[in-house]
Formats: sequence, C-alpha cells, structure tokens
Amino acid sequence: MGFNRKIRIAPSILSADFADFGREIRAIEAQGADWVHVDVMDGHFVPNLTFGPPAVAAFRRHVQTVMDVHLMIAPVDPYIDAYAQAGADILTAHVEAGPHIHRTLQAIRAAGMKAGVALNPGTPAESVAHLLDMVDLVCVMTVNPGFGGQSFIDLTGKIRALRAMIGDRPIHIQIDGGVTPRTAPLVAQAGADVLVAGSAVFKGGSVDSAEVYGANIRAIRVAAEGTLV
Ligand code: DX5
Ligand code: ZN
Repeated sequence: MGFNRKIRIAPSILSADFADFGREIRAIEAQGADWVHVDVMDGHFVPNLTFGPPAVAAFRRHVQTVMDVHLMIAPVDPYIDAYAQAGADILTAHVEAGPHIHRTLQAIRAAGMKAGVALNPGTPAESVAHLLDMVDLVCVMTVNPGFGGQSFIDLTGKIRALRAMIGDRPIHIQIDGGVTPRTAPLVAQAGADVLVAGSAVFKGGSVDSAEVYGANIRAIRVAAEGTLV
C-alpha cells in the first residue's frame, strides 16, 4: 500500500453514541470515512476519561478501514503492547507526555504499529524535528485536547513549518480539533492531509439517519480538496 497525500477524513468516535459504537463505526465507514479515530484519555494528561484497551479491542471488530488511536495519556509506554493487542493500526503519543518520546516511538513501531506523534497547540513544530525519521504521522492539535466540540485554533504557520520540515518523507500531517468545512481549507492549504472531525461529522445525524454523516464527511472533503490544485 503506497503512501500518498490525498485528503483523508478520520471521524472521531468521541462524538458518536456511546451506547452504540459498533453501529456508529459501521455507519461512518459506509458513509465514506477513510479512517476511524479513537481518542484515548486518562483523566491525568487531559481532564477527561474515555477508552481502555478492552473498549478499543471491541471497536476493532467493527473497523474495516484503519483504526487510528490517539493516546492522550501519560505515561504511554506501559500501555503500548495492550493497544497493539487491541488492534490499533496507528498509535499516536503526545510529545508532551513524557521525557522519552524517542523511546516511546521506537516501542510503538517495535510492537508492529505505525507511529504518530501529536503536538499540543502551545508546542512548537521544532519539537519533532529530530523524530521525523521514526514517525508515520504528525498530529497537530488545533484545540487543547480533552473534549470534542471546541473552537479551532488557527495554527497554519505551524502546519506550514512541519510540511517544509517533512519534505519528501512519507509522513501524514493530521489535524485534530475544530475541523469543519470552514476550517478544512485552511489546514489543507497549509499542507495537512488527514482531517480528524468529531462534531462536524456526527452533527445532525444518527445511525438511523446515517446519510447525514455522509453529507457531513463530503462537505469537509470537498472544502479541503477545493484548495488543492
Ligand atoms: C480532542 C480530540 C479530538 C476531538 C475532535 O481532544 O483529540 O479528536 O474529538 O473533536 P471536534 O472535531 O469536535 O473538535
Ligand atoms: Zn484525537
């Protein structure tokens, strides 16, 4: 499977119906999601709690595309094998999560997953400069992590700087937080290719009116692609 930078939409199931994850995952994939984004929060690194490895393993049974697991936890290393066993395809850790991000990224790849590194809004692009040969994805947080439905923080200068630093390397630039049809063009123009969206995908829809998810996904994709010639 070759690497490319076509626009990918990764709905965050943080905005799904928590009593119905299996059907929600199948609905977003049927409606055009490229990846399924799973937000893992520990009530310590971020002020919210979500999914442990058994929950993620249960999601895996429904995911046919790519399960993209975003760890907002500290420490990370004791849980890497558990999320590998749970079936994560991509495991992303925050650069701020501990003193040894290099070791963490090595361990993620050693466990057989693609490795991602995420940056909080206040963390500069340069913080990942010496990690680029060990990652498959850089996630730029455009909200302070912890909750869905927050307002987009314009960090297009940081995205441009990362795009230049990455050069020809096969590394995705993922944007997470406040992505909508209005903000998607800004980040795509700056060099992002994977757009996470929670509220903007699930807004107005349900598993019984999943065509709304499809329309929402298409609106983000069309807006993002419209900026790329
Ligand atoms: C925030 C999470 C995001 C979030 C995005 O901490 O990492 O993935 O669910 O939600 P929206 O798209 O609603 O900002
Ligand atoms: Zn996320």
